[in-house]
Amino acid sequence: MNLAEFTPFFNMNLRRFLDELDLYEPLKEVVSYTPLAGGKRLRAYLVWELSRFTGFGEENALKTGIAVELFHSGSLIHDDLPAIDNDTIRRGLPSSHVKFGECKAILAGDFLMLYPSKLLSSLDIESSSKLTLLKLWQETSLEVVKGEFEDVFPENKSREQMERIHGSKTGSLFGFCFAAPFAGRKEEKFVQMRQLGLRFGKLFQMMDDIKDVTSTETELGKTPGKDGKQDKLTILSFESLEEAQMKVKEIFLGLLEEIDEFSDLSREMVNVYDLIARR
Ligand code: IPE
Ligand code: IPE
Ligand code: MG
Ligand code: MG
Ligand code: MG
Repeated sequence: MNLAEFTPFFNMNLRRFLDELDLYEPLKEVVSYTPLAGGKRLRAYLVWELSRFTGFGEENALKTGIAVELFHSGSLIHDDLPAIDNDTIRRGLPSSHVKFGECKAILAGDFLMLYPSKLLSSLDIESSSKLTLLKLWQETSLEVVKGEFEDVFPENKSREQMERIHGSKTGSLFGFCFAAPFAGRKEEKFVQMRQLGLRFGKLFQMMDDIKDVTSTETELGKTPGKDGKQDKLTILSFESLEEAQMKVKEIFLGLLEEIDEFSDLSREMVNVYDLIARR
């Protein structure tokens, strides 16, 4: 499946999942809003496609995809809060706190970031694989919070600090997506996939930093030009736009070679790259 085919398939399953959640209705409304507002679904897609090479199983892949997309949505709700990045638009709609108020947005973000561990605990895989996967999940979710903190409070603004922030706030979740389908495989492969995902995630964040200055609000579904205004530590703190764009392309081509064993996926990643270069 390519990403364009996967997205509606995933969205249908995500909607069904949220509809069936047994939850106090007002909480369910705010919890469902941002996940269903849109999004490229790239993280879930990577889990799905890589699972085809490992026998992880479609049901488990879908559940894991839902878990990572829920977490990601929760982290975006918190990221947009006035105290953090203060963005009023997300996925082309008013941010959660604009629509529902800060109190509901904070609690919905909490719920979305905590629910995935319950969902991942229910996967139908061997208990040793599950332990491996849940341990990685614990680390991943903590890493995102650490990255978000350091993003808002960077002390020395060095290149190393930027690399660490990118790795934590964005790379770690991609590391999980790449590795999860390999939870039942040899540890060496699991670790290698995580590293690959981490590198892809850092690239993804650099592309996000670039889009902040090159894309429009309509393309992004969020407010462009904010990183500069908020004096964020981004790839553009160290390199010109042209240098950064060249570097990103180079890193992408290197990563593409490393995933050529996953033939369909590596072919599709060329289209994915074009998509994420814009929105
Ligand atoms: C946005 O992620 C936040 C970053 C980690 C840069 P995405 O660009 O994947 O956002 P959606 O899911 O498509 O909305
Ligand atoms: C990534 O950073 C956000 C999270 C990991 C939650 P950004 O702050 O750059 O993401 P956008 O640009 O608001 O989507
Ligand atoms: Mg941010
Ligand atoms: Mg932000
Ligand atoms: Mg950004």
